[in-house]
Amino acid sequence: MKKTLSGMMCAVFALATSLTTSLTSVVAHAAPDGAAALAIVQKNNCLGCHAVKTQVVGPAYQAVAKKYKNDPSAPDKLFTKVRNGGAGVWSEIPMPPNPNISDADLHTVIDWILAGAKS
Ligand code: HEC
Repeated sequence: MKKTLSGMMCAVFALATSLTTSLTSVVAHAAPDGAAALAIVQKNNCLGCHAVKTQVVGPAYQAVAKKYKNDPSAPDKLFTKVRNGGAGVWSEIPMPPNPNISDADLHTVIDWILAGAKS
């Protein structure tokens, strides 16, 4: 009896652990960490041309969030656009390519922008 009980406790613990882990990743996806995203855009000089709330050379990140809020292809589209650069969506001023930001960082930033660019 004692043995069965400890086996059960073990299973409960394992379940709780995996639940916590999957919950954490769901939360992380739904609400990207603003501080982490801001650190990434600062490090990669995105803020030389963009701000969260106001247009600089490029559009405000909150304006980008609004524009693509009903576009399910936005994450892929924006990933490619930021990576390769381009013009013609907001104005004829081009965004230069951004080859140095890592794939993971760029995904984090795009998720954060599309979630409303909250700090
Ligand atoms: C030299 C200035 C410059 C830099 C640096 C820059 N951008 Fe841009 N960005 C622009 C301009 C200009 C546009 C508008 C392009 C257009 O109208 O198609 C833009 C557009 C965007 C868009 C919207 C794209 C679209 O098609 O709607 C996103 C998202 C974006 N930038 C993110 C970033 C990120 C992330 C970085 C840093 C890795 C970055 N930008 C660096 C100038 C810049």
